[in-house]
Amino acid sequence: MTTRKLLLLPGDGIGPEAMAEVEKLVAVMNEATGSSFVTETALVGGAAYDAEGAPVSDATMALALAADAVLFGAVGGPKWDGVAYEMRPEAGLLRLRKDMQLFANLRPAICYPALADASSLKREIIEGLDLLIVRELTGGVYFGEPKEIIDLGNGQKRAIDTQVYDTYEIERIARAAFELARTRRGKVTSMEKRNVMKSGLYWNEVVTRIHRDEYADLTLEHMLADSGGMQLVRAPRQFDVIVTDNLFGDMLSDIAAMLTGSLGMLPSASLGAADAATGRRKALYEPVHGSAPDIAGQGIANPLAMIASFAMALRYSFAMIAEADALEASIADVLESVRTGDIMADGCRRVGTSEMGDAVVTRFRERV
Ligand code: NAI
Ligand code: MG
Repeated sequence: MTTRKLLLLPGDGIGPEAMAEVEKLVAVMNEATGSSFVTETALVGGAAYDAEGAPVSDATMALALAADAVLFGAVGGPKWDGVAYEMRPEAGLLRLRKDMQLFANLRPAICYPALADASSLKREIIEGLDLLIVRELTGGVYFGEPKEIIDLGNGQKRAIDTQVYDTYEIERIARAAFELARTRRGKVTSMEKRNVMKSGLYWNEVVTRIHRDEYADLTLEHMLADSGGMQLVRAPRQFDVIVTDNLFGDMLSDIAAMLTGSLGMLPSASLGAADAATGRRKALYEPVHGSAPDIAGQGIANPLAMIASFAMALRYSFAMIAEADALEASIADVLESVRTGDIMADGCRRVGTSEMGDAVVTRFRERV
């Protein structure tokens, strides 16, 4: 049987507390489904800086490059406020993203029925929502040159950021989106501003060509990004996969996240290029939340964002769709009766991190 290598990078603050719950699930996976996950754990962030002198060591970087998937907790905290810029905990995550060449950022927005009333949108609009935003992560206006503030010498300055996209960058994010859509409901909505941006016009052209030549069996639609923002809050269930550039994706993914609620519930993934021989992509899975120093060490953090990140790993790195579905359904189940403090509601029992993890494990065992 093929061995699946997971690198666990718990990090700082609530990262290790949340990761401990994922470790329980990995054990259940191996025992109940006979899948052979092998885990290795390493330091990252402030914990790595303290013990190894860098927020991610070369040895850890090598493990990350060799792993089938990396599960990342969270990094940072006030303890490292005075650390030099290039040694700060966040630099560990940036190096992982850069060296693994993670160009596609995946942010799902899933509405669990039990949390539908906590949304800012009406239940009938949000219930059943399950969409995935695929944001280009390494190009666009955040990185394009020239990028500067010029003194014009007449009391005026000129600030310049440049949106740049090359053909290969659009092709690979488009392919990633279509591949993901194939494991879901088969529909991709591409968002840009072709009406006012050359890069939007070209984005549209390339995505259209990749669809026509390689994924004609799937559905592609185009939407102007501003109109897409409106549609996200008006009728979000029309979407399956949304693919968009770095800037629009940054905003649209935060909007979509808040449709469904708490930071403690939100997973994410960042994917790199597919390996030519195995077809497997470099991938890092992490909750959207940070290290939450205000509640760290108290055993009260919500582990569901970290657990849902593991579900994404099952789905997108290992094609274990049934297991991913079972894990997400288990999360939905437990939310009916038990809650951590951040999502507490009347009629539910308040539990801590470990008890929440155990509740998911119990449901998951019944389902797989
Ligand atoms: P944060 O996400 O850590 O916390 C924001 C608020 O949400 C806090 O009140 C926290 O208690 C709560 N919260 C977050 N996750 C929770 C969970 N799973 N369960 C229950 N409550 C939860 O963001 P903040 O406070 O801005 O940053 C704290 C530290 O984390 C900083 O050092 C920051 O740089 C770092 N950070 C790291 C990230 C990463 O590792 N990817 C991402 C964001 C922040
Ligand atoms: Mg953002």
